[in-house]
Amino acid sequence: NFVYVLNGPNLNLLGKRQPEIYGHETLADVERDCGALGDELGLRVRFLQSNWEGQIIDWIHEAREEASGIVINPGAFTHTSVAILDALNAFEGTVIEVHISNVHRRESFRHHSYISLRADGIIVGCGTLGYQLGLRRIAAMAP
Ligand code: DQA
Repeated sequence: NFVYVLNGPNLNLLGKRQPEIYGHETLADVERDCGALGDELGLRVRFLQSNWEGQIIDWIHEAREEASGIVINPGAFTHTSVAILDALNAFEGTVIEVHISNVHRRESFRHHSYISLRADGIIVGCGTLGYQLGLRRIAAMAP
């Protein structure tokens, strides 16, 4: 039984792009921390990143077969993608939406999220710790 941790566009540059907003930790650091926490919580973590909307949708479809939960930071697709919302609506497990930055303190176009219409929980502005909080929530909800 897996938990998928999905990352959208530009998150491959984490630690390098706008560190004043997103911090200095890299996505590899986040992956390592999620793996370690998964071991502790008894969750098998599948950690993935893509700059391509369709790839993220394909992974959500795979999660339908194998995962009890999804932690997702859709990056800018958060604010644009009805298609990712639709894919998540076809997933029956727990969905936690994560944003590293506090999107509500930023440009108004970041204040609306299509993903929040499906998310069971939302973690915003807690830095990369948000991913770990998401995993803990899914572990707590697992039957
Ligand atoms: C983000 C916030 C989005 O608005 C932005 O497009 C990102 C990252 C975050 O983690 O804070 O790429 O999802």
